[in-house]
Amino acid sequence: MSYDIIPHPFADASSSVGIGFALGSAVKLKIADQLSMDFKEVKQIAAGANVSEVGAELVLDCLDAFGYVHKKETQYAFTQRGFKNLSPQSPNNFRHFILFCNYLYKGYLSLDETIRLGKKPESSMLEEMNEYEWELFSRAMIDISSTNFKEVAGKIKVSKTAVKMLDLGGSHGLYSIELCNRNPNLKATIIDLPPVKKYADECIAKYKSAQNVSFLASDFMKDELPKGIDIILQHLCHLSGVNDVIWDEISHKIGV
Ligand SMILES: C[S@@+](CC[C@H](N)C(=O)[O-])C[C@H]1O[C@@H](n2cnc3c(N)ncnc32)[C@H](O)[C@@H]1O
Repeated sequence: MSYDIIPHPFADASSSVGIGFALGSAVKLKIADQLSMDFKEVKQIAAGANVSEVGAELVLDCLDAFGYVHKKETQYAFTQRGFKNLSPQSPNNFRHFILFCNYLYKGYLSLDETIRLGKKPESSMLEEMNEYEWELFSRAMIDISSTNFKEVAGKIKVSKTAVKMLDLGGSHGLYSIELCNRNPNLKATIIDLPPVKKYADECIAKYKSAQNVSFLASDFMKDELPKGIDIILQHLCHLSGVNDVIWDEISHKIGV
């Protein structure tokens, strides 16, 4: 690929979209749920997922090409990569992230129109999401952050005198939880939209952080925000279009 012997668009425009959809179908249709590290007949896999044998084979061959499964004649088994990321039995699986990407693909269908207009033809993504889509979004953020929140928090220097932190668009609050763990004087407030509270509360309970981390359901673009803040954590709020002008407004509201 680095010598451009195979035209880049061939891979860029086809394979990532194809494998994205194949991963989505494997999880959504519970094809992945039928697999383990032991080989199993495609007939059995298809029956377990209640899909056609030819369909299961197509998806599994695609996963084989990307190293998620091994194929032996008409049998398939997870590779380590497949088990880790796709199995419901894997504690660090990436299933919610895959399902969330599958949901995002819908938005790509109106990309041309969005670029022409400079905004989405209808309402914004967050306004359109139903309860299930909020769950996918929030759990996808948990899938990603779980891979790095300890390392990221370890790289953030916190002054010994800092007490109050706002985690803007903090979602699950994993970064706040870890920062408060490392800095016991710190109290963090996660600011996010109301549907996210459930997932933040879940993480706060999981890591027994209720003494130091709380969730405030609010829209940081419209609502009043707590004042007297020592630290603002703002990680990946680009989704809601936070630019320098809006950032100045938010800083003004918080009084920093
Ligand atoms: C890309 S996620 C990042 C979540 C988390 N900071 C992380 O790094 O994993 C962006 C978060 O910002 C939240 N968000 C977007 N617009 C917001 C707004 N106007 N007010 C509050 N939260 C907002 C979303 O609900 C979402 O949870």
